[in-house]
Amino acid sequence: MRSEKPGTLEQPSAAAAPRNWPLMKNNIAREDLDAAIRFLQQNDPILTQSSEVAAFEKEWSEWLGVKHTVFVNSGSSANLITLAAIREKFGGGEIIVPTLTWVSDIASVLQNNFTPVFVDINPRTLGMDSREVVRKITKNTRAVFLTHILGYNALDDYLLQELERRKIPLIEDVCESHGATHQGRKLGSFGLLSNFSFYYAHHMSTIEGGTVCTNDSELYEMLRMFRSHGMVRESRSDTLKARYTAKWPDLNPDFIFAFPAYNVRSTEINAVIGRSQLKRLDQRNAIRTRNLNCFLDHLDPARFYTDFERAGSCNYAFTLVLRQADDALWKRIEQTLREHKIEFRRGTSGGGNQLRQPFLRKRLGDEFKHYPRVDHVHFYGCYIGNYPELETAQIEGLCRLLNAV
Ligand SMILES: Cc1ncc(COP(=O)(O)O)c(C=O)c1O
Repeated sequence: MRSEKPGTLEQPSAAAAPRNWPLMKNNIAREDLDAAIRFLQQNDPILTQSSEVAAFEKEWSEWLGVKHTVFVNSGSSANLITLAAIREKFGGGEIIVPTLTWVSDIASVLQNNFTPVFVDINPRTLGMDSREVVRKITKNTRAVFLTHILGYNALDDYLLQELERRKIPLIEDVCESHGATHQGRKLGSFGLLSNFSFYYAHHMSTIEGGTVCTNDSELYEMLRMFRSHGMVRESRSDTLKARYTAKWPDLNPDFIFAFPAYNVRSTEINAVIGRSQLKRLDQRNAIRTRNLNCFLDHLDPARFYTDFERAGSCNYAFTLVLRQADDALWKRIEQTLREHKIEFRRGTSGGGNQLRQPFLRKRLGDEFKHYPRVDHVHFYGCYIGNYPELETAQIEGLCRLLNAV
């Protein structure tokens, strides 16, 4: 999820109750900055999208286990051109979306003139309830656009089989879950398309940035064009380019615009930082997973929800959700976190129930009232930063503090 850039605060002390705990720390390291500096020291380097972007895309595809990656300037841009490509390929209709997600997942659906159909969460994964997804499929469904929330795997075999059987395309938003897996395979390699974000607060950062990944060559060509003004010359396919040139002989082949699209390209500098970051992503993720297990193991399960589905999870945030609705307890928790300068975001991903946001209330009125499970997280849940520099003793101290509130 995105939040304002967290402050650079002091390292919390292990012995005392924790203090000064930002949402994220040291996510862009000296070695990444040095890689950028080395790159800039070249004579007359190309800075706009070029070979470094292509190299990062190739390395990201290999890491994820997909054929194609398109690097863009943010996860939101990845969402936007993903939905534009779905619209181009399958036409308009309904897209099944979560109530708990980031704003751009819903905005991209609306911006491409689809109708969003909302689904409540599964408390164990914070992702969509699979049975409700399947129940909401109609003849107008063009795709299921799920979000893997804060590193938890939102896939299950039932959902995958039902979508396969009904030929409904799956789109995975993995912006918050780099490296998480389902049945040992990385999330983002299951969907027809998948999106990642490299905003500072996520598992790895390119300052700003995102990717769209796919095994579908036709969609890949389309996405390359959507990234760059809808320009046909952005395609890697000579056949596709020849087809357009033959069909539109009055046009300069360099300036054929297939779609009314966008410019959401990134730059070589961002790609250089991404390549440097990717080298240590897995190692850092392993520590984050150890941290999450420590957090959930030490929280009081009578007060806090600790039954999250941990298998395959890869989390950069500690999810803190009350077991029961309790306004007074929640108020004390917020107070304690503030007193200890422990940054947190109420509602978890994207602030909780998206349907409560003004942009959806204007369109859908009080539809938000029908999703009780996301509302529980909205009012009695938050996340706290989880990064590799945290020590076990600090996490245990945080749990002691929370258990004693
Ligand atoms: C689930 C999800 N999708 C999309 C985005 C958008 O990514 P970006 O901030 O890179 O635009 C975010 C942002 O944090 C997110 O959490």
